[in-house]
Amino acid sequence: MTHITHRQLFFNHIAQTSRFPLALEIERAEGCFMYEPSGKRYYDLISGIGVSNVGHRHPKVVEAIKEQADRYLHLMVYGEYIQAPQALLAAALAESLDLPAKAIGPFGQIDRVYFTNSGTEAIEGAMKLAKRFTGRFGFVSCFNAYHGASQGALSLAGQQFFQQNFRPLLPGTKRIRYGVAEDLEQITTDTAAFIIEPVGGESGVRIPDLSYMQAVRRRCTETGTLLILDEVQTGFGRTGTFWAFEDYGIYPDILVCAKGMGGGMPIGAFMASENIMSVLTGNPVLGHITTFGGHPVSCAASLAAFRVIREERLYAFAGRKGEMIKAAFSGHPLVKEVRGKGLMLAAEFESFDLLKAIIDACITEGVVTDWFLFCDNSMRIAPPLVISEDQIREVCGIILKVLERFR
Ligand SMILES: Cc1ncc(COP(=O)(O)O)c(C=O)c1O
Repeated sequence: MTHITHRQLFFNHIAQTSRFPLALEIERAEGCFMYEPSGKRYYDLISGIGVSNVGHRHPKVVEAIKEQADRYLHLMVYGEYIQAPQALLAAALAESLDLPAKAIGPFGQIDRVYFTNSGTEAIEGAMKLAKRFTGRFGFVSCFNAYHGASQGALSLAGQQFFQQNFRPLLPGTKRIRYGVAEDLEQITTDTAAFIIEPVGGESGVRIPDLSYMQAVRRRCTETGTLLILDEVQTGFGRTGTFWAFEDYGIYPDILVCAKGMGGGMPIGAFMASENIMSVLTGNPVLGHITTFGGHPVSCAASLAAFRVIREERLYAFAGRKGEMIKAAFSGHPLVKEVRGKGLMLAAEFESFDLLKAIIDACITEGVVTDWFLFCDNSMRIAPPLVISEDQIREVCGIILKVLERFR
């Protein structure tokens, strides 16, 4: 029998999402590294797109997964049985959101957590919650934002390109410019929710002004619009604080997270005060349901990741580490700009063609980076938060050497 390689199986049977998948075969991963079957080592500078905040296979996450697997896997659809990993994780998240009273929004402190399987599902849940709570159906989001791929979340997407062949999508959605205070006028008493990322992710790491984010909060409060903060990429320590919004002195009405939350396992959540969340329990009962949301193994992994990030204060070091990366590339003749907050960074080049050639060369040299969905001339740099300063020096050195070839 002829031997069929994994590569052949991948191309023959895995539904492809583009004509140019990276198609690296990884056999093992640990910390900041991924290894091919040949033993070739890659620095993961993108954390599987914002997921591996505690690094690949963090020992505490792996231990929690094993312990939970020895107790039980799926037991029952979401919200019926008392499952300790869910309850403990929800309490931990609520505690992380118990912030100084002056920051709390008009609808109170967030202490209810609805677990989902992904960021997209959490966005969907948040949208339904906002509609149900406000009795409105309008949504405002930002140009160049990405909030997920389902039809509701896609309706919020900030570029027509990804929407056009899937219409009709949800009615009543509007896009405004990210970071432009005058556009906030478009949030009105017809708007159920304004959804925004505290740092724009797929737009290529865009950091709004503090005054803008405060104006966002004010406008939402004035119009009775719920403020949904999408922390799918920024949450769990990525930007230098545990939640990115903490840096702006504001507080959301609904908070969404996923990605880094699971320590490598699939999980997401939308969170709100009891006041808001309670509308999902009646009229109709079971206002939002899921079979696997908050899977006990994912919750156990997430709780372990939560504790690692908070106990080791990984978020606090992300700022300094990010500055090291910024310093390495700022001023380089090929790099037009380096943007970033914590370990969520983007290095901008002249064109996609140049960046793509650089990214390919980096992969050959054992460094995985990427560009962004809505910003294809900027290199995504978002390594695991556990990356050491020596590793930063090493990996920046590799990239700088690659850049020399393109000068
Ligand atoms: C800001 C943001 N929101 C939502 C999502 C959707 O999350 P998921 O891919 O887990 O469905 C993403 C994914 O990239 C994201 O970056």
